[in-house]
Amino acid sequence: MSSGLTFGVATSAYQIEGGRFVDGKGESIWDRFADSGRMPESGDVACDHYNRWQEDVELMAELGVAAYRFSIAWTRVIPDGRGEVNQKGLDFYDRLVDGLLNVGIKPFPTLYHWDLPQALEDEGGWTRRSTVDAFTKYAAAVAARLGDRVSNWITHNEPWVAAYLGHLDGVFAPGRTSWDDALAAGHHILLSHGRAVPVLRAAGAERVGIALDCRPVHPATDCDEDIAAARHFDGFRNRWFFDPVFGMGYPEDMLAAYRERGRISGTTIPADRPGDIDGIASAIDFLGLNYYTSLPISADRGDELDYSGVPPGRNPPEGYTEMGWPNTPQALTDYLRHINETYAPPSIHITENGASYSDGPGLDGRVRDQRRIDYLADHVDAVMAARESGVPVDGYFVWSLLDNLEWVEGYRQRFGLIHVDNATGTRTPKDSYRWYRDLIAGG
Ligand code: FCB
Repeated sequence: MSSGLTFGVATSAYQIEGGRFVDGKGESIWDRFADSGRMPESGDVACDHYNRWQEDVELMAELGVAAYRFSIAWTRVIPDGRGEVNQKGLDFYDRLVDGLLNVGIKPFPTLYHWDLPQALEDEGGWTRRSTVDAFTKYAAAVAARLGDRVSNWITHNEPWVAAYLGHLDGVFAPGRTSWDDALAAGHHILLSHGRAVPVLRAAGAERVGIALDCRPVHPATDCDEDIAAARHFDGFRNRWFFDPVFGMGYPEDMLAAYRERGRISGTTIPADRPGDIDGIASAIDFLGLNYYTSLPISADRGDELDYSGVPPGRNPPEGYTEMGWPNTPQALTDYLRHINETYAPPSIHITENGASYSDGPGLDGRVRDQRRIDYLADHVDAVMAARESGVPVDGYFVWSLLDNLEWVEGYRQRFGLIHVDNATGTRTPKDSYRWYRDLIAGG
């Protein structure tokens, strides 16, 4: 029986492309972050996909995926964030799109996977409203070139991560550490999403979505304190983004909690600015959902950024991936049902799901990554269970096609269906690649 799902794979520009100094690319906040020693390795070369993209498209064709989610580097297209369009940067994505279409793979470009032009960051980046405008113009430039061939578009990847890990926790670029900056950044990212939707449609986009990350949570015990803590964490981590995207504005309980904790000053989130809440809520054609794990929440944890789980590392305990994330497929089914009941999106694609295990080639050259196969199989089943109960999940994208630069974790965290030798760039399909190929071939 056919699953009815569109199966795909996902990557992002900074994590795979390399080609940092070629064809007029400008500097992004991640280039700067790496240069300032905040990462174990940089993306200067990464998987060298900029040069090896044809080989990667062939690998996808052999895999049999129907769709490929990749991201476009703003700094290739408009090196300083605003101003003149660099046609050479667009040429790369033009070739990639044609290469994909030639082998029958649908391109799903994401416009923003966290790599803001440094020139915009120097003016305040996402904390500034003017960046919304710059993003809309960038979206228009990309769509003007690719809109005749690309039907499916994703505006942003994981606004929560960009806003909070980049502006509150400071562990991600640009490394800011204030509530004011985080809330303002989140707001402007969401607004730029809403503003880009009509721009993409005007250029021929048939389906536009956003990829939201989620951390479904449940109270660690059934005591009132844990229930309240789980509700608060869900508001901080999930509802703050899902609610406004689906036209419900920011959650009232979180606005009250942030005010009480002194996090919202008069200027922090200009959400009451006329039109902003409506501007964010442009109707989307699909929700992209990135899912990796879910967490138990108890009241005795510290602030919102204090994660339970185990530290990242090799040889994780049973039931955890090397990122230290618990493997929780059932929560995906539950969360999909919850999303459907709460927000009723017209369609959902799982735009990322995958597991980090660092199994490498054995003496015979074969990569035996059974733990990844188990993880993926359980999550595909979880998606199918939701689909069978009426949730309109239509797509599933594995993160990731290739082992790549896992941000501040460097190259040691490996999510790929294909092993990449960091010294030579050699690609070796893992057992999970063959497993996924067979799953897809079976319908
Ligand atoms: C997501 C990111 C993606 C990748 C995976 C493991 O948060 O969108 O780039 O790093 O996690």
